[in-house]
Amino acid sequence: MLAALDGLPLQCSEACGNLSEQVKLPEIEAISNILVTGLGGSAIGGDLLRVYAADKISIPVIVNRDYTVPEFVGPDTLVFAISYSGNTEETLSAYEQAQARGASVIVISTGGKLGEMALRDGVPLVKVPSGYAPRAATGFLFIPALKILQRLGFLPGLDGEIMAMAGFVRELHTKLGAQSPMAENPAKQIACKLHQKIPVIWGSTGTTEVVAQRWKGQINENAKVPAYWNVFPELNHNEIVGFQLPAEILKRIHVIILRDGQDHPQVQKRMEITKGVIKDVVDGYTEVWSSGDNALSRLFSLIYTGDYTSVYLAALYGIDPGPVKVIDYLKQELQ
Ligand code: PA5
Repeated sequence: MLAALDGLPLQCSEACGNLSEQVKLPEIEAISNILVTGLGGSAIGGDLLRVYAADKISIPVIVNRDYTVPEFVGPDTLVFAISYSGNTEETLSAYEQAQARGASVIVISTGGKLGEMALRDGVPLVKVPSGYAPRAATGFLFIPALKILQRLGFLPGLDGEIMAMAGFVRELHTKLGAQSPMAENPAKQIACKLHQKIPVIWGSTGTTEVVAQRWKGQINENAKVPAYWNVFPELNHNEIVGFQLPAEILKRIHVIILRDGQDHPQVQKRMEITKGVIKDVVDGYTEVWSSGDNALSRLFSLIYTGDYTSVYLAALYGIDPGPVKVIDYLKQELQ
């Protein structure tokens, strides 16, 4: 898993190269909404796309984690059906439905049944390299979708931003990777704070929301630990009320607050006030600030820190981050 994380910068530059070049695309005029359908590690790239595209693309980008696709999906929808294995039943079912509704579908996968269906139906297939855990193949699953939107004309000037992000992530790797000592490595330090605790991850709507979800998923799947996420300002209207339980229960919680300079000023104020509310009742809180000069770099600075944290946390529990036996069991039982 560490090797896969170390390889993220390379994944991004490789995926930026030729992965999506062969794919035949629909006309941009024919598209009035975009749907990304997938689950788990294959869906998170859709959320990254949604957040990144929010202020750049004039049509809605929606992420779907279900067997069915929303009502609006039809001939004017561009659908990315993403499944690393190509065998996730919810994605196969959503793919069939999108096809039946006449949507323009593009498959991103290593192959599997979804790859076979794409070949059968003459649907464009971006074939990504196999041998990774899906959640460790984010570069391969996310960048091709971005590149396709660029080729369609939705995201001009994207290449520079992706390459800058890949270079920036390479620098981060020096700071976060296994060779970087504890004293200089924020991911190792955060993993120590989360050890033997229940992680609660807080982000902010529109900036770090997807990062909070990613941290939670990575901690669940890599460290095999329950974790929970939420966003400001919404959590100030419900979750915060729950921090009134007796200290012996709340002392098991460590809160991660994801910070971004672009957060709404009132959200930043809310975060400051909320820190005061929780500081004496939970085990503690840790603020993690984004860094980087563009939107993609800022997102990935936090994602990469969370990815490494989850793997170091797995090491502290003596757990192999790779296998997700219970997910495999569920998939098998459902067949
Ligand atoms: O990272 C993982 O292993 C999971 O979250 C999978 O991504 C999820 O189960 C869906 O599988 P796939 O990505 O193969 O469609």
